[in-house]
Amino acid sequence: MEKKQLDWSNLGFGYIQTDARFVSNYKDGAWDAGAVVTDANIVLNECAGVFQYAQTIFEGLKAYTTEDGHIVCFRPDLNAARMADSARRLEMPIFPEDRFVDAVVQVVKENAAYVPPFGSGATLYIRPYMMGTNPVIGVKPADEYMFRIFVTPVGPYFKGGAKPLTIKVSDFDRAAPNGTGHIKAGLNYAMSLHAIVTAHEEGYAENMYLDPQTRTKVEETGGANFIFITKDNKLVTPKSSSILPSITRRSLIYVAQHYLGMEVEEREVLLDEVKNFAECGLCGTAAVISPVGKIVDHGKEICLPSGMDEMGPVTKKLYDTLTGIQMGKLEAPEGWIKTIL
Ligand code: PLP
Ligand code: COI
Repeated sequence: MEKKQLDWSNLGFGYIQTDARFVSNYKDGAWDAGAVVTDANIVLNECAGVFQYAQTIFEGLKAYTTEDGHIVCFRPDLNAARMADSARRLEMPIFPEDRFVDAVVQVVKENAAYVPPFGSGATLYIRPYMMGTNPVIGVKPADEYMFRIFVTPVGPYFKGGAKPLTIKVSDFDRAAPNGTGHIKAGLNYAMSLHAIVTAHEEGYAENMYLDPQTRTKVEETGGANFIFITKDNKLVTPKSSSILPSITRRSLIYVAQHYLGMEVEEREVLLDEVKNFAECGLCGTAAVISPVGKIVDHGKEICLPSGMDEMGPVTKKLYDTLTGIQMGKLEAPEGWIKTIL
């Protein structure tokens, strides 16, 4: 298979249309067989549930070229399970988890020419999503749905790659205590757009959202969970029922404990204690681990000792170990790597 002629090393995090995508439709209580198609466009009725009441959920995972030339993806079963959780919360039908993984494999295979080469710094981002498709005008769930997966080759999520970011403590709330923060619904991202545009205008890369009830605890950013490293080498990560259960974060907890012999604390993290940490990072599929150098809380600067020049040393070890597993340089725990080609 011949690779597409793309400037792999200079890709940003953007959409590049590829050759194939997967589509399956749900009607009369059942999913059809699904198919790989070439058309990237969707034609829907003007009153489709997705347009009127934002009934849409999505996932994000990546495919990698390993050092020995295989194409693999990372823990797709967990994305399938999380999408099922999202579907339940928004009264949508579940796309069967085994079919989800099969569809990911099919789409990546069909787009193998777009999977960035090993060592390029780029990866293939995989975006499964589902939406309500039939007309809905009273507020209620749709009866018909479309599940799709497209892929796009991507570079780093944040400009500047691994350069430490400056972020701000947001005055906006991301998710209510009993709301939808723990699922991957488009609505969580729609309501974060004003906050992220405002943060960017002010020169910040991202927002640190606090818990809306007390505004004292760290939740997450618009697109990633937080990890912190203490001065005595522990990994601390916020526990909250209103943050997205990041697959990267769950994997890093395991990596820290079992590969690096670190202690891990998953617990409430007060904004007040952030000044005591040695390192901070944002973790997620898109973010991988993006280091944070400075957090600005209403004019007050919290400068992490790891500084603004490079990733902190422990964050770097976590990064190297996780990406080493994903790219086949290090042995993966059982079941983490799904070989596609
Ligand atoms: N938090 C939010 C709000 C996200 O959008 C994402 C991205 O998926 C994450 C965290 C990280 O989750 P994961 O590691 O599963 O990609
Ligand atoms: C991901 O990391 O997969 C996400 O969905 C985050 C998004 C902000 C791109």
